[in-house]
Amino acid sequence: MPVCWLNGAFVDEHEATVSIFDRGLLFGDGVYEVAAVLNGRLLDADRHLSRLTRSMHEIALPVMQSEAEWIEIMQSLATQNGVEEGLVYLQVTRGVAERDFPFPPAVTPTMFAYARRKRLSDDPNAGGVRLLTVPDIRWVRRDIKSTSLLAQVLSKQTARANGAFEALMHDDGVVTEGGASTIWIVRGGVLYTRPLSRDVLAGITRDVTLALAGEAGFVVRERAFTVAQAHAATECFLTSATSFVLPVTTIDETPIADGAPGAITRALRTAYFARGLSLTSR
Ligand code: PDD
Repeated sequence: MPVCWLNGAFVDEHEATVSIFDRGLLFGDGVYEVAAVLNGRLLDADRHLSRLTRSMHEIALPVMQSEAEWIEIMQSLATQNGVEEGLVYLQVTRGVAERDFPFPPAVTPTMFAYARRKRLSDDPNAGGVRLLTVPDIRWVRRDIKSTSLLAQVLSKQTARANGAFEALMHDDGVVTEGGASTIWIVRGGVLYTRPLSRDVLAGITRDVTLALAGEAGFVVRERAFTVAQAHAATECFLTSATSFVLPVTTIDETPIADGAPGAITRALRTAYFARGLSLTSR
């Protein structure tokens, strides 16, 4: 039976329950994180936990346990569930209280985490995926990793219904990010990804990829680009904790260049794995 962690205890997933009055359920009043597991060990958990702390601060959630305690719980979930390659999700909500929009006076956050297997090193999508462009209908604090994800649910459903792997969200034709990923393009040998602001989530994979691109000698500009520029790019890829560096070979009906993963994309995917495997090897 898979084991999860809920409010301080490891329990069978099927026996873990939360109240119908949990504010995560009523209002999407919560934040989350997801980190990858390679070689049975968490990858970049410290960075994900720093972002969690920031997200919690931004919505005034009280800190109930340290980042180190979270990492211990997440690692234990991967180990107890025998996850060699996969993901560990964690979520914190404002907790259970009588239904009222403002913060309840005294409430204990609900906290939980769970592990999932996922093929990362032999991802069946590694040959390239298709994106579908959709208007970005989210709120303006996209830097907070909030569980209020209805806009992403609708966008990714539209993408899926149209045979695409991921939504490419844009504000008036300017790309913001993927439904649950950071988007990059290559034009004239230069890599472009949107600069950090409240408009996008500060991707941990983005940050690592920026460093790897620098080490490989690639030129990167953190600059916004349009959907038209993405259609005309020589390469495109997305980054996320759940897909690492994943080639994008088609956007809408337009193949990117010759429709095959580009050389820079492949080099960064290889470098990302090499780094991940070396950090997690025992
Ligand atoms: N999503 N942008 C958005 C909107 C995201 O939801 C994510 C991650 C990213 C990439 O962030 P990172 O590299 O830290 O994973 C960018 C996760 C994977 C999810 O919601 O499942």
